[in-house]
Parts: sequence; C-alpha cells; structure tokens
Amino acid sequence: MQKLEVFGANRLKGKIKISGSKNASLPILAATLLSDRKIHLKNIPKVKDIETMISLLQSLGSKTKFINNNLIIHNSKQNKQFASYSLVKTMRAGILVLGPLLAKFGNAKVSLPGGCAIGTRPIDIHLNGLSKLGVKYKIIQGYVYATAPKGLIGSKIRFPKISVGATENLIIAACLAKGTTILNNCAIEPEIKDVVNFLIKLGCNIKWIAKRSIKIVGVNKIKEISYSVMFDRIEAGTYLVAGAVTEGNLKIKNIVPKIIQTEINTLRKIGAKIITKKNEVQIIGNKKIKSINIKTAPYPGFPTDLQAQIMVLLCKANKRSLIKEDIFENRFMHVAELNRMGAQISIDGNKALVYGNIKFAAAELMATDLRASVSLILAALTTKGKSVINRIYHLDRGYEDLEKKLKKVGANIKRIN
Ligand code: UD1
Repeated sequence: MQKLEVFGANRLKGKIKISGSKNASLPILAATLLSDRKIHLKNIPKVKDIETMISLLQSLGSKTKFINNNLIIHNSKQNKQFASYSLVKTMRAGILVLGPLLAKFGNAKVSLPGGCAIGTRPIDIHLNGLSKLGVKYKIIQGYVYATAPKGLIGSKIRFPKISVGATENLIIAACLAKGTTILNNCAIEPEIKDVVNFLIKLGCNIKWIAKRSIKIVGVNKIKEISYSVMFDRIEAGTYLVAGAVTEGNLKIKNIVPKIIQTEINTLRKIGAKIITKKNEVQIIGNKKIKSINIKTAPYPGFPTDLQAQIMVLLCKANKRSLIKEDIFENRFMHVAELNRMGAQISIDGNKALVYGNIKFAAAELMATDLRASVSLILAALTTKGKSVINRIYHLDRGYEDLEKKLKKVGANIKRIN
C-alpha cells in the first residue's frame, strides 16, 4: 500500500494551478447518461473517484476516451441499467446514475452507495424525491430496484433538508420528465450551478426561479456539446490553508475568487493577508493566527469539506476556537490523529474545541477519509522531521497531482510504494 513521507517546516512559496472540480464532474458525468450523442468534457480532474465514475459509465455501455483532462463520452450503445456494488461501494456519487437511468429507460438497479466513512449518509431524500416523479422502488439485498411504469412525470417537490446529491439527482431526472418540475429548498453549491449550466447547454429547459428553487420543463431533444467544468473550490481552499499554516506566500490560480468568498473572509479573520485578482487569490501567511468560531453549513456557508483543513490552522491560533460540524455526524476522525501529533482538540457531539498555540510533532499517521487525509498532510507540512501518512488511497480519490503541486512550491513530500 502506498504512503506519503513529508519532511516539513518549509514555507510554501509560488503558484498552484487548481484542477477541475471533482464534485462538479461527478454529477455531470452521470448526467451525460441522458444523451445518446457525443459529449466533450474539459477540465476533468484525473482522480480515483472520476476513474470509478467512468468505469461505472463503461459498465452501462458508454464509450469513453480520457486524455489530458479531456473526456469524450458517447452513450449511443448504452444498454444496461445496472450499477454494481463493486463500483458504487467506494464512491457515494454512484447513486447519481439512478435519476438519469430512470429518466432515460424507466428502470434501474443501483447499489446502495459507500464513500467516505463520515456518518450514515442515507439516500432517503433522493428516493422520496424520485417517488414524487412517479418512481416505484424496493430495496433488496443492498440494491435499489426502481421503475417508472408511466415514465417520469413532473411534480412539485420540497426537499425536507438541503442535500447536494439529492438536488443533483432530481434536477437531472426531471430534465426528461413529462411536464414541469419545481424543486424547492435546493442545495445551491456552485457545483450544482455548474451541472445546471451543463444541462442547459445540452438543451434542457431549466431556470432558477428563487434562491433555492428551480423549475425544469422536460425536453426530448439533447444536443451534441462540449463543456468545461468549473474549478475545484475545495482544492483551492486546501492550498489556501497550506499557504496560511506554513506562513508561506502562495498564488492560487485558475479560480473565481467570489465563489470562495466565505473561505477568503474566514482566512482574513484568522489573520492571513489575501489579495484577490480576476482568476487568482494570493495568500500571505501570518505568524499570528487569531482564534475563530466556525460552523459548517450548506453553501454559501463554510464547507464541511474544508473543516478538517481549517482545524489544523486553528491549532496554531492564539486562543481556543470552536468548530461546529452541522452537515455530517461523524466527521471528526482526523482529530485523533492530529492529537497524536500534539494537537489539543476535544470533541463534544458535533462540536470540536480546538486549543491554540500548538506546535505539531512529526508522526506516523493513518488517513481515514478524503479531507481528513489532507489535513494530516497540512499538519505534517508544519513540523520538523519525518511524518508518514498511510492509507493515502483516500487522498487519491479527490486531489489531482497533490505531491507534484506541493513540491513545486517547496514542500518536501514523496510517495513510497
Ligand atoms: C456532497 C459532496 C460532499 C460534501 C457534501 C456536503 C459530492 C460528490 N459530494 O455529498 O463532498 O461533503 O455534499 O456539502 O458532491 N442526507 C440524508 N438523506 C439523503 C441525502 C443526504 O439524510 O438522502 C444527509 C446526509 O447524511 C448529510 C446531509 O444530508 O448529513 C448532506 O448530505 P448531501 O448534501 O446529500 O451530501 P452528498 O451529496 O452525499
């Protein structure tokens, strides 16, 4: 199993180019299932979750060619409606093929998803939403068996809770449904807006009618298009924290700063100097880091996917900080490992009390999920001595060229086979 070795305490300096968004690419890939025509996607990151989604599409009959972040996908021979456990178990986003398969074929058998071990993560909101579009389903031995006997029929749905995946699944499904669908209490993450822009380009009839409401009128014609996926805002946020925590000076490039305004505001409050340009954010880390209280929330709130990374920075703050995790129930698994490196973090339910003024010590560490693994690297980057991070397959699910990008700005990091 591969590991990463990090020799820390270098100030990171230079430019980092941000990759395409994993979390926008995944639903866009699922949405290509609506089409029989050739689709050219640009800026797709080469990470494990994307490879898994491509394998899943291939298993459904899609033909794909993936070269240098360009993916050509052709679904004309798509003939299966079965997403196996072996493909969906490692990646929760596998459930996103359910909506488009039902929209196109009227039936599907999709494994219940896996993904990061960050809570129970049910799919009830997806299934209840699809039921309102006329889907009947049963869960048998870990599989959802779903059919739409009369095809999907537009409806008015209010999500009981904001869910990124359920919003995506329902928007995609409703694109080919008969009549009009109105979805209320939608997630409005930038990745969802990207999926909607992709679908509109494809010929779908979609309009945001209020901040969290969207109207979709079913269509039956889909065009041949090319589309470039947005930047990965979580990758951008991770490298901003890397700049701050190493007291470095990093230019984070190929992004749209206003999309990550909450993160920029938070880092400014903590004491980092940030300069924004059209497609770039520069961060200049400060030795003095101020404590802050943060709670994770749906966009435009502070992202749960950056909670572990910001925690590392707050370990260096002048006083105690409080982090409240309001999205997932079990997302503090990095805490035990950070405490082994000398952090003083105590957990009380969904709250973490993060004591400041910590100097991390190098250690041998175990990654537990995607964002937890990167938080361990961030902590290791601040320590003198060698840290070893095990189980980095979690990291490979979502960070493209992480070692290459960090090495380029002065980190001493290497992969051991
Ligand atoms: C997506 C992101 C993930 C991010 C999360 C929250 C992708 C591929 N993944 O995950 O990186 O951390 O949004 O921003 O884009 N829930 C239910 N029932 C459901 C669906 C969700 O109870 O049917 C709950 C979840 O357990 C969680 C909350 O709703 O507590 C939010 O989950 P959701 O927004 O659906 O996250 P994902 O789409 O899985």
